[in-house]
Amino acid sequence: MPQLLLSADPGFMHLALDEFRRDSHNAQLLDELAPGVHLADCDEGFWGLAESWIDDPPVFARHICPVDLSIPLVATPRDLSRLSEAAVTEYADLLDPDVSFSVQSRIFAELPYKPFDVNRAVSAALARAANSPLDVRQPFQILSIVCAASNQGPGSEKPAASSHRQLAYLGLSLASHNISDWAGGVRRFRREKEQVSRAEFKMLEALEAFRIDLPAGGVALDLGAAPGGWTRVLRQKGQFVTAVDPAELHPRLAADRGVRHKKMTAETYLAEGPDAFDFLVNDMRMDARASARLMNDFADFLYPHAEALMTLKLGKTAAALDPACTILQESYNILHMRQLFHNRNEVTIHLQPKPA
Ligand SMILES: C[S@@+](CC[C@H](N)C(=O)[O-])C[C@H]1O[C@@H](n2cnc3c(N)ncnc32)[C@H](O)[C@@H]1O
Repeated sequence: MPQLLLSADPGFMHLALDEFRRDSHNAQLLDELAPGVHLADCDEGFWGLAESWIDDPPVFARHICPVDLSIPLVATPRDLSRLSEAAVTEYADLLDPDVSFSVQSRIFAELPYKPFDVNRAVSAALARAANSPLDVRQPFQILSIVCAASNQGPGSEKPAASSHRQLAYLGLSLASHNISDWAGGVRRFRREKEQVSRAEFKMLEALEAFRIDLPAGGVALDLGAAPGGWTRVLRQKGQFVTAVDPAELHPRLAADRGVRHKKMTAETYLAEGPDAFDFLVNDMRMDARASARLMNDFADFLYPHAEALMTLKLGKTAAALDPACTILQESYNILHMRQLFHNRNEVTIHLQPKPA
């Protein structure tokens, strides 16, 4: 039966597995390779599931990739040449020469090499053997390689811990079928010296994942702005920002003439009578339903072309998610909703106001 690897935040894996069971037939979990990484299969196989998730994306499943073959590892650098040989034998003829490819590796075992070493060795061998151009930034085709200790014994019995075998799981897919363009959905950004908060990564990841383009000169409203990470990103994207938060902004932002700090709660600002905005963002630490209700109140102050981005804070069960979405749908269409790599106990939602 065709197999696949399903990855999610370990804390939300149970919800990702619910999505997998809901959207496939005969879903079976074969092995947990690492917290948040499951080897699984289903009647649709990787391609069938990927197609259905392109049309109706999951929220918690962060990444999928196919498993076409597994190769035993000996845990010496010789693995790199064996993986390269296997990749050339199995995939050189399958790669479409007209579009780019990349190799994305993850390692969940004690091995004397790093993902970078695997990527470099295998992609160099494939680039020599196939005519497809290598492009690690925007690959069209991805060879995924996951190295891990297998807990699967003969049949479905688990072997004793001492007999765990280390395997590399290989599979070729289109980047567009993997949910995320990044290995395991892990999108890292370079830390900048001027960075104000970790939350900046959250906004950068959402803008990229949801393909949100902010035309320079727009006016944005940032609810729950302090210390100002999202405001800083919005300023970098050329927005004039009204930053609402009773807490202080970072001094660098407080001195920025493109930032207006309303040092008050969102509720007080609403009562004051807000201006009109092109982009509304909300990262308030607040119950998901209360935050959704406030978003509806602010929808009256958005231009018809506006968009909105918010995080919904969830407990482990995410019980507040559906009620919060129902509230939001009174005023907004939900364009995207994902539990992104930089989210903690929350999801990020991209919204479009409904016509008044
Ligand atoms: C996670 S922090 C926001 C981080 C921010 N996005 C950044 O990038 O630096 C949550 C913020 O929500 C603010 N907050 C909580 N309730 C609020 C309310 N009712 N109105 C405005 N801000 C609120 C808190 O003061 C806190 O600064």
